Amino acid sequence: TVKSPLEISTMQEACNITNHGFRRILDKTRPGVWEYELEAEYLHEFVRRRSRGFAYTPIIASGANACVLHYVDNNQQCNDGDLLLMDVGAEYGNYNADMTRTIPVNGKFTERQKAVYNAVLRVKNEATKLLRPGTTIDAYHKEVGLIMQSELLQLGLIDQTDIKNENNFMHGTSHHIGLDVHDVGSFYKPMEAGNVFTVEPGIYIKEEGLGIRIEDDIVITEEGHQNLMSDIPIEAEEIEELMNAK
Ligand code: GLY
Ligand code: MN
Ligand code: MN
Repeated sequence: TVKSPLEISTMQEACNITNHGFRRILDKTRPGVWEYELEAEYLHEFVRRRSRGFAYTPIIASGANACVLHYVDNNQQCNDGDLLLMDVGAEYGNYNADMTRTIPVNGKFTERQKAVYNAVLRVKNEATKLLRPGTTIDAYHKEVGLIMQSELLQLGLIDQTDIKNENNFMHGTSHHIGLDVHDVGSFYKPMEAGNVFTVEPGIYIKEEGLGIRIEDDIVITEEGHQNLMSDIPIEAEEIEELMNAK
């Protein structure tokens, strides 16, 4: 569970290759494109950069498909006005990247989409700040749950009854990653430098046909943490800009 510098640099390379794949599809995504066409673009970019392929079966989920947690059919056409959730990572030297990004099919978020997107991004950023030596994943998950709850309340997606019934989470925020995408490691042992975790909050609204998840891979360091995906576009405005660059 404690990665050596060589292991970390191999994981960094897996993340860098994933970054290139994501930037490639920002240029290819438009209304009418099929989910599997984008899957093929990732694979092309990964293999040409000496990855042997996907770290796991990718999820390329447009519109309401994003609310199906392990959607891997990737066989639908992307529609104008929909969001597209992509949970994709490259494998490199037996190590894995695990990224999720959510983008607007037509290159522009609606106001509502951006509000939900920014809520998820805030949770991801706040959750990441909690990662440091000494924290347990168990305690961290409880704290992230409270941060998410306040965002969901602000968006009007839950009320106090939902909070009481604890019925608002589809999945945990973090897991260990390394040789396996879901790597070995205890949720109850304090974090230490060299551990690598994902951070992947999401909000899924079936009634609105949208699901948003954002996922980065983070190394615990003596000082706190380091984001292996800091070069992968994440701000809504940057994604829009890149999608509309000619
Ligand atoms: N790609 C699997 C996961 O995010 O856990
Ligand atoms: Mn993950
Ligand atoms: Mn993932």
